[in-house]
Amino acid sequence: MEDKLLMAEAVLARESAYAPYSGFMVGAALLCKDGTVYRGCNIENAAYTPTNCAERTAFFKAVSEGRRDFVAIAVAGWLKEGPKGYAFPCGVCRQVMMEFCHPETFRILVGTGADDFAAHTLGAVLPHGFGPADLGR
Ligand code: THU
Repeated sequence: MEDKLLMAEAVLARESAYAPYSGFMVGAALLCKDGTVYRGCNIENAAYTPTNCAERTAFFKAVSEGRRDFVAIAVAGWLKEGPKGYAFPCGVCRQVMMEFCHPETFRILVGTGADDFAAHTLGAVLPHGFGPADLGR
């Protein structure tokens, strides 16, 4: 799938964001090798700590369906009321990506829509990441 289309999927996923506390609405679209896309959104909680990021929602949906063959993820996040901007994955989400994705090939798209985004490798946003290979896996 083209980057543009994956980014558009992330913007659509953002519509489902449940963010009544921060107002920061995030959508993610995770692309598998066979072209399947798993959408995710952030899901907040009154107790705050159970909050799940959009990226991890997408990863956990996909992994729980038996998928581990990931190519790229697109992320669209900005405040409900306010200007659009680029939301990079938080450190915890980068670490989850490191578990299932090769840092040199897995790509992360961040942007506001199909015509405004940037692409980075996982390795670029998580240098010297610790992963399964460090444990001989
Ligand atoms: N959030 C994400 O879903 N992904 C990110 O990359 C950054 C942060 C969510 C978590 C929380 O619901 C809100 O954005 C504010 O931190």
